[in-house]
Amino acid sequence: MSALLEVKNLRTCFVSKKKVLPVVDGVDFKIMKGETVALVGESGCGKSMTSLSIMRLVPTPGGEISDGEVLFDGTNLLDLSESQMCKVRGNNISMIFQEPMTSLNPVLTIGEQLTEVLCYHQNLTKKEATRKAIELLEMVGFSRAAEIIHDYPHRLSGGMRQRVMIAIAMSCNPKLLIADEPTTALDVTIQAQILELMKDLTNKFDTSILLITHDLGVVSDLAEKVIVMYAGQVVEEATVDQLFDKPYHPYTQGLLASVPTLEGEIGRLQSIKGNVPLPDQMPQGCRFAPRCSQALNRCHLEKPTLKEVEPSRFVRCFLYEDEEV
Ligand SMILES: Nc1ncnc2c1ncn2[C@@H]1O[C@H](COP(=O)(O)OP(=O)(O)OP(=O)(O)O)[C@@H](O)[C@H]1O
Ligand code: SF4
Ligand SMILES: [Mg+2]
Repeated sequence: MSALLEVKNLRTCFVSKKKVLPVVDGVDFKIMKGETVALVGESGCGKSMTSLSIMRLVPTPGGEISDGEVLFDGTNLLDLSESQMCKVRGNNISMIFQEPMTSLNPVLTIGEQLTEVLCYHQNLTKKEATRKAIELLEMVGFSRAAEIIHDYPHRLSGGMRQRVMIAIAMSCNPKLLIADEPTTALDVTIQAQILELMKDLTNKFDTSILLITHDLGVVSDLAEKVIVMYAGQVVEEATVDQLFDKPYHPYTQGLLASVPTLEGEIGRLQSIKGNVPLPDQMPQGCRFAPRCSQALNRCHLEKPTLKEVEPSRFVRCFLYEDEEV
């Protein structure tokens, strides 16, 4: 099966005080058609910058994609003109963010925002677009869709606004949905409903998802594959079952150990000690070495590479060097 999205050696930098700081540093992964892939890691690991790079929405001035390829259905998005890229964003790849209030326009009604997208990207008349907007709102669970279209975003709860964002994101039948912490701002019950909705819709339309989250509980429910990022690099890639059954990378082990249990306690270990290194203070050897309880001497001096240690399982750690397939 061929990949829908293939990210190859992606490098994104910020230029600060004449220094070039790589925040995404040689990232590789694939997403197959209909597959849900989770991208996890602590705050500052480069998850959002990876997704913004895929969408070519890296903040400028300052940010720039300096290397790599983002192959979508075989086309390198990094080679497209801005207007071609605009079409890809409207027709093929959609994105939803953590806080829908910042993505919705506060001075337009829900109906106006949906119809604007539909008229622009799907060439529908105003009347057709309104009908489609109501259909989409019903699809994301609004029972009074014909009334909601007249409301402004501030009249809706956080969960309702996120449903509207999902309706907008799904309005073009995207092949890929990038969801960056889509439920972090919501309370737990609403989070579960929103995730269930995303799962249903994307199953129904065979949409692939790149789900960015630091909540590993969400990952096990929704994703098939997990990519763990640390300090701008992929440190482990595995299926959900492999990862939860036996995490290989010491960082993944730490992440899993710090998932709160059902009782709300922190599990076996406390959270991983220390912080993600800043892009201008990267350790000389393994980037996780200062926080790793299993570090060897060489870990402080040499950089491990990402190796396939079992079929479709990748780890960046010297402890698994001999297990390469
Ligand atoms: N506009 C910017 N200018 C300079 N550095 C930035 C900018 N945006 C992000 N960064 C840096 O890029 C790195 C990666 O940030 P990113 O937002 O991708 O992290 P993240 O994994 O999404 O974190 P979070 O879980 O908090 O959303 C961080 O070190 C961050 O400080
Ligand atoms: S390479 Fe060394 S420091 Fe890095 S994660 Fe593996 S054991 Fe820890
Ligand atoms: Mg982020």
